[in-house]
Amino acid sequence: MSQQKLKLKRILFFDSGVGGLSICQAVKKINPDVEPVYLFDNECFPYGEKSESFLISRVRAILDAAVKKFELSGIIVACNTASTVALPDLRDHIKLPIIGVVPAIKPAAALSKKKIIALLATPGTINRKYTQELIRNYASDCKVILIGSAKLARIAENRLTCGNVDETEVAGVLSEITELPDSERPDVIVLGCTHYPFVADVIHKILPDCQLVDSGIAIGKRVDSLFAGETMLPVEVDKIEHKAFYLGELQNYDDRFKMFEHFGFTSLSRFSLDDAI
Ligand code: DGL
Repeated sequence: MSQQKLKLKRILFFDSGVGGLSICQAVKKINPDVEPVYLFDNECFPYGEKSESFLISRVRAILDAAVKKFELSGIIVACNTASTVALPDLRDHIKLPIIGVVPAIKPAAALSKKKIIALLATPGTINRKYTQELIRNYASDCKVILIGSAKLARIAENRLTCGNVDETEVAGVLSEITELPDSERPDVIVLGCTHYPFVADVIHKILPDCQLVDSGIAIGKRVDSLFAGETMLPVEVDKIEHKAFYLGELQNYDDRFKMFEHFGFTSLSRFSLDDAI
């Protein structure tokens, strides 16, 4: 029995879909005392091609409601597409620690021996000023190949929900790399969308010589340092609640619920923005 004395941190993981579960897994590995509340905006999935102004107001409305409804210690915006545009606005308006997930350009540039890296992300993330700045600040010594895919998040979402993945579709997304001669290919690929770790094995099969880098471990460490030294509450790790919430109508509820159970969640309920007001 794991009657360990740990501090309880109730953290909201927010994404457009199931991608944030890759961040949740990485966070829980380093911080077993985190009580995750997982909230996803299935109503507006995918976020990849939505306008910046839409995303800023949508994400603020959802997170405002979530702060009213759940007693949170902090929020992780477990979505690169939302983080790269909405973080300043969220931090201005919500008085809780907010951790954003952004593409791991800095570690990728440091890892690359060829000094050629690729960023695989949604079209929104690729086009952001924030992403351009990350590249300018941390990868100025690298050639950076930008691949914006509107499809890959959905491929990953379907894989988690229904179990199947069309490898030729993934190969199509990666053709910009596979068509290059060996000398011009990247040796490191940044998975700049939280959905992509769920198709990392397929990407690796297509590009076995590329190292894949995502943001999961860095976010886990960030949570650890952010909440270090907080008051300890007695809590049994295996009694920590794992609740997930969706917005609007959810297709394939039973399959989704099974998938969330697989990640340790015990409930999957509808969250209405009105409930919280
Ligand atoms: N998981 C999200 C990200 O990290 C995006 C998926 C979407 O297009 O909604 O960017």
